[in-house]
Amino acid sequence: MAPIRIFVTGGGRGIGRAIALRFARQGAHVAVAARTSAELDAVVGEIEAAGGQGIAAQMNLRDHGSIEAAVFRAVDFFDGEMDVLVNNAGVFDVKPFEETDLGLWNRMLEVNLTGPFLVTQESLTALKESPKGHLFNVSSTAGKQGFAGSTAYCTTKYGLRGFSDALRLELADTGVRVSTVYPGATDTKILDGVPGDWDRSAMNKPEDIAEVVWAAYHADGDQADLDVPPPG
Ligand SMILES: NC(=O)c1ccc[n+]([C@@H]2O[C@H](COP(=O)([O-])OP(=O)(O)OC[C@H]3O[C@@H](n4cnc5c(N)ncnc54)[C@H](OP(=O)(O)O)[C@@H]3O)[C@@H](O)[C@H]2O)c1
Repeated sequence: MAPIRIFVTGGGRGIGRAIALRFARQGAHVAVAARTSAELDAVVGEIEAAGGQGIAAQMNLRDHGSIEAAVFRAVDFFDGEMDVLVNNAGVFDVKPFEETDLGLWNRMLEVNLTGPFLVTQESLTALKESPKGHLFNVSSTAGKQGFAGSTAYCTTKYGLRGFSDALRLELADTGVRVSTVYPGATDTKILDGVPGDWDRSAMNKPEDIAEVVWAAYHADGDQADLDVPPPG
């Protein structure tokens, strides 16, 4: 069977890393993208150790040029066809609305919403070339439910849901499926420094999200909404 060719944004750690390694275990060709080269290089080593082939594509979602370059590098590595795109990279900040300044608001929108828009635009031709193209947008429970102190974050994650739902309809005739992933709280570094009484032992592990993405890619049907509530 031909290796799956998968591009994962935010693939340097957390949920993105787990998705990259889940596919690598089955021999996938994996391109991981984020800002931190050292993390990307470490994950590429883990991809190769797991039986896949990997490349690091350094990219800042707030810089269109770097997105173009990263997708170009990935598509070149995949010989022109991309089977899976995972828009996973994101940032999370908790701030009361009245302390949410325009800088924070814009940063959240750029990384969590405009970033996936740009990565998808740059990747779509290669996804359409695949016999089984599949786009996953990693939203959040905060894409379906409001949380106090998270107006900016919730706005971006609700937005990603709308982006997915509309794009799914537009791509229906192309064979490219579009899924939205809604993880509940998951034990990753995104929660470091965020105020709150987090019980990390009760959370999802990044591997739980990866397993859902892996299963949805292989399942029949449209796989539109993928909820991953914490266990228990
Ligand atoms: N953990 C949770 O509880 C949870 C729950 C629901 C949804 N999610 C969503 O899951 C996704 C992954 O988060 P995670 O929990 O795995 O967090 P994480 O461990 O902090 O990973 C976030 C990833 O996004 C990348 N990233 C951040 N800003 C970026 C930028 N400007 N350009 C490119 N890459 C950037 C980071 O790499 P660099 O910093 O090196 O750029 C990192 O690889 C996010 O979209 C998050 O909103 C998380």
